[in-house]
Amino acid sequence: MIKVKNISYQYTGAETPAIESISAEFPRGTISAILGESGSGKTTMLMCLGRFIKPQKGTIELGDDDLYALPELEFRKRLGIVFQKLYLFPHLTVLENLKLAAVHALGQSRHQAQEEGRAMLDHLSISDIVNNYPNQISGGQAQRVAIARALLLKPDYVLLDEPTSALDANTTHEFGQWLCSLKDETNFIVVTHDTLFAKEVASLGFYLSNGKMLDSGNIDKIIHNVHQGQVTDKNSSKGKVYA
Ligand SMILES: Nc1ncnc2c1ncn2[C@@H]1O[C@H](COP(=O)(O)OP(=O)(O)OP(=O)(O)O)[C@@H](O)[C@H]1O
Ligand SMILES: [Mg+2]
Repeated sequence: MIKVKNISYQYTGAETPAIESISAEFPRGTISAILGESGSGKTTMLMCLGRFIKPQKGTIELGDDDLYALPELEFRKRLGIVFQKLYLFPHLTVLENLKLAAVHALGQSRHQAQEEGRAMLDHLSISDIVNNYPNQISGGQAQRVAIARALLLKPDYVLLDEPTSALDANTTHEFGQWLCSLKDETNFIVVTHDTLFAKEVASLGFYLSNGKMLDSGNIDKIIHNVHQGQVTDKNSSKGKVYA
């Protein structure tokens, strides 16, 4: 379980917090989606969960541990992040990209890393592209490789930031099906503004607006409320209804 309690984060020089008093619980065995329009604070929340920035207020627990107190290597093994920019090394093949992660993060021998990388690609049904370079694979395949690389470390959680932003509707659907098939591998938290995709993969949803958590719970309920315009940020100066 990840427990987020009342976190706030304000960027240096900003007039208002990017996220404010956010609380959320991400249980195991569930794909969770963080939804919200552009600028609502989704990536900021992800950056806090991924420990790239530290909230000025509030706490985050990973299991029984204070997430910010964990040693770096242990933390990185327990929680993986796949960013919008996938950061695959362009001069390395798919297999070499995975191998590098296993050698560096797990301290595996090059031989062992190669075997495990190959096995992971096979397990995730993408072994046909092991020897391709990142510029020789599609956006959907690149997403899968980045996820395969994260899964090599056997993390408790994997966070995905807008995984479908570069994919067309068909590829998004296929990718969603594939992601659902990995439910038992880890616990995914997916940041997305694509409600169709969120509905397809997630069972739990969190709706952010102007840095506040406006709604959370069953994904169908969340999306229904968003579409009905029932989620309103009462504190917004614009008094905007999110539809
Ligand atoms: N490095 C930064 N410095 C200052 N302000 C920032 C920084 N990054 C984000 N912000 C601001 O924080 C707020 C939340 O941004 P964030 O990137 O978390 O939103 P988001 O929901 O991920 O948006 P998108 O859907 O466009 O990715 C925005 O007002 C944004 O302008
Ligand atoms: Mg973002």
